[in-house]
Amino acid sequence: MSANLSPPTASETILELQHVTKRYGGLPAVDDVSFAVQRGEVLGVIGPNGAGKSTMVSLIGGSAAPTSGKVLFQGQAINTLPPHRRAHLGIGRTFQLTQPFTGLDIRENVMVGAFFGRRGLSRSQALHVADEVLARVGLAHKATLKGDQLTVADRKRLEVARALAMDPRILLLDEVMAGLTPAEVTDAIELIRSINRDGVTVLVVEHIVRAIASVSDRVLVLHHGRKIAEDTPDTVLSDPKVIEAYLGERYAKQKQAEKDPAQPASEWMEGLA
Ligand SMILES: Nc1ncnc2c1ncn2[C@@H]1O[C@H](COP(=O)(O)OP(=O)(O)O)[C@@H](O)[C@H]1O
Ligand SMILES: [Mg+2]
Repeated sequence: MSANLSPPTASETILELQHVTKRYGGLPAVDDVSFAVQRGEVLGVIGPNGAGKSTMVSLIGGSAAPTSGKVLFQGQAINTLPPHRRAHLGIGRTFQLTQPFTGLDIRENVMVGAFFGRRGLSRSQALHVADEVLARVGLAHKATLKGDQLTVADRKRLEVARALAMDPRILLLDEVMAGLTPAEVTDAIELIRSINRDGVTVLVVEHIVRAIASVSDRVLVLHHGRKIAEDTPDTVLSDPKVIEAYLGERYAKQKQAEKDPAQPASEWMEGLA
């Protein structure tokens, strides 16, 4: 079948990692990882602490370069592009360790994101973008506070606002729900869904399993830098390999021996990583 006869719903790869490895001092933080993200999907990424999730986000965003392997965005190899060039192409990311500009107010912090991600923006356009995204993440009423006057949860919201201000085609979220109350997590899930409904592809790294399970079309699991699973949320969260990765083999065997299906894995996995 020729390309122009493909059904309009045919999936299209927006981002692809091919055998990507990142070593720090000889130790692999990301180890021969390959996967593809389809345009329009929400891909969840989970894994215990130190699994390589943030490193992977940095390899896509451009703040780290792979030791080997290829990162492709919309078919183009972007390995060697600096972060601002990747932002112009449509890659927006948040940072797990938030570092707002403390001398700037919140609105100005978001304007920096707008300027970083979009070319030729005027100051008034950047202001408009900033106010729009601040309202969207629930920070409009704090627009004039300084970067160092925010709570942890609000700093996470600021990260999302800065990334959204870049007008991304793909949004990479690195643990933006850490420190949120359950009600705030519910709001954050709804925000991710609405961003995705607007046509933005989302890669979401998160420890909060309830959030990952409800927001993701597919889930990828990293463990010691390697991809150990990639499937639907239900399949991944009941995969013995994944349960073992979170609990250690011994506990998994004990759990299996108990054969107690009363508590879904998603409940006890939470908070372990
Ligand atoms: N800049 C760095 N220099 C040295 N080691 C690093 C650096 N960044 C990450 N690592 C190491 O790489 C591994 C993966 O870290 P990270 O990607 O932050 O994991 P995760 O986000 O899954 O918790 C860890 O062992 C971490 O110590
Ligand atoms: Mg991390």
